[in-house]
Amino acid sequence: MLFTTLLSALALLSPALAVSINNTLYIITNSERPSLGRPGLSPVGWLRAQSCIPPIFANLNLGLILVCKPNIKTGACLPANATAAPLAASLGLVPDTHCGTGDNANDDCVGDALKKYAKNSTQSILIVWDANEMDDLLENIDIELPDGDDDDDEDEDDLAVHADIVLIKNLKQKVIETSMNCSIDGQAPGSF
Ligand SMILES: *[C@@H]1O[C@H](CO)[C@@H](O)[C@H](O)[C@H]1NC(C)=O
Ligand SMILES: *[C@@H]1O[C@H](CO)[C@@H](O)[C@H](O)[C@H]1NC(C)=O
Ligand SMILES: *[C@@H]1O[C@H](CO)[C@@H](O)[C@H](O)[C@H]1NC(C)=O
Ligand SMILES: *[C@@H]1O[C@H](CO)[C@@H](O)[C@H](O)[C@H]1NC(C)=O
Repeated sequence: MLFTTLLSALALLSPALAVSINNTLYIITNSERPSLGRPGLSPVGWLRAQSCIPPIFANLNLGLILVCKPNIKTGACLPANATAAPLAASLGLVPDTHCGTGDNANDDCVGDALKKYAKNSTQSILIVWDANEMDDLLENIDIELPDGDDDDDEDEDDLAVHADIVLIKNLKQKVIETSMNCSIDGQAPGSF
């Protein structure tokens, strides 16, 4: 009894297997979507995917773009896939979409893909993930958002709500959270 209690306590304490790679890792969510569950990206999201994201990642030595698996039936990850498409085309990369989201997804898929890629390449990696599934992704690859005044849950909400956020993870540094700083981001003059 004591033994099993100890074991479960240990299981709770031991962190998920951290994905320890030298490659710089960038993570973004899908760009803005229309309201009321309408498919695709909103005009602002389209603008972000077409004009804002490609120049930001043009010179960051990306070798791999991981996008969660688009599912035409459920609509999952279609916006993420559309978000990544212009960048991928501009870099001549084909996104790797073999890792799914949701209840049936393999929790280790992304971590395994990162480790496999890191064995052969030092180039940077971009993950483009469904905003609704961000919590699961960060948990699965054991990435903690930078400490803020807010608790973690609020930070994660923030990330999902703001399509301009970029997470940057280097092996030697804590996670950095920054904005794409496109013309459609930040504070409008006169609004504050
Ligand atoms: C990262 O690179 C250093 C050398 O630059 C190497 O010693 C180390 O094993 C690498 N770490 C991983 C996780 O690949
Ligand atoms: C995902 O994006 C690629 C371009 O990167 C495109 O060719 C493909 O048709 C898209 N898949 C879906 C299901 O929309
Ligand atoms: C890594 O590169 C080697 C040689 O180019 C290749 O044989 C191997 O399949 C690659 N491994 C992965 C995981 O891509
Ligand atoms: C965006 O702007 C903020 C300051 O407003 C800056 O700290 C940050 O580095 C910028 N992000 C990028 C990706 O340039």
